[in-house]
Amino acid sequence: MIILDGKQLAQQIKSEIAIEVAEIKAAGGNVPHLAAVLVGDDPASHAYVRNKVNSCYECGFESTLIKKDDSISESELLEIVDDLNQNPDIDGFIVQLPLPKHIREAKVTLAIDHRKDVDGFHPINFGRMAQGMPSYLPATPFGIIQMIERNNIETEGKHCVIIGRSNIVGTPMSILLSRKAYPGNCTVTLTHSRTRDITAELLRADIIIAAIGIPHFVKADMVKESVVIIDVGINRIEDSSRKSGYRLVGDVDFDSVSSKCSYITPVPGGVGPMTVTSLLMNTLKASRKEVYG
Ligand code: GUN
Repeated sequence: MIILDGKQLAQQIKSEIAIEVAEIKAAGGNVPHLAAVLVGDDPASHAYVRNKVNSCYECGFESTLIKKDDSISESELLEIVDDLNQNPDIDGFIVQLPLPKHIREAKVTLAIDHRKDVDGFHPINFGRMAQGMPSYLPATPFGIIQMIERNNIETEGKHCVIIGRSNIVGTPMSILLSRKAYPGNCTVTLTHSRTRDITAELLRADIIIAAIGIPHFVKADMVKESVVIIDVGINRIEDSSRKSGYRLVGDVDFDSVSSKCSYITPVPGGVGPMTVTSLLMNTLKASRKEVYG
């Protein structure tokens, strides 16, 4: 059993990006510049955005953080998006989700210029990904693809079962792993809340992508020997032995399942750290105009 260390891989990719940025700077080129818009005071969102901004710094990117109170109106936020769309100094930007209830996330996502949509959430990027055209891949699927590729995990002809059909993880993963490419060429089953017998599906899986958001959902008797497991879940469970009173666990019951796996990602330290490197790679592509010219 091999534990896929996302923390270490993310660090390695960040070092590679930093070298590329140093070369760009030395040649007097365009230094990648990411902007992030953060609305409200959700502690998790603040932590994620802080991590994104710090990672920019580590790689030599420029970054701009725009913080707004959650009383901001939808139209004020759309004006900020429009300013960033127009600003030639900004290569790419993100609006951190979730947004306050009175703001329609879909409206904001649609307002972002797809050429600066380094989160890969805009339907143009999603559609281009689905058709195998150059696009910005969403952070989590891109991170998972990188992990599979960098660890030379075989995917061709494998049966991949995905749990969860969200727009940002399950559905794009089903597209990416079924496309004619490496990683890809899998036969994919996309399971969700209406699937009749998830265990029966999982027992046939060579690769499982768990993105359901239920702590320890996948148990040892639900998987076959030598399965590859990518655990996307980040769930808080109570833990009185911790100072915080909680700890983070995945959608997979790691302690009982891991001995049956050929590869498995831990939580924390698996897929999570890879999502930031995806954002950095997309921003680098944006600054080089690799996707849209
Ligand atoms: N909230 C949780 N994950 C993400 C992400 O990848 N991008 C944005 N913009 N918001 C998020």
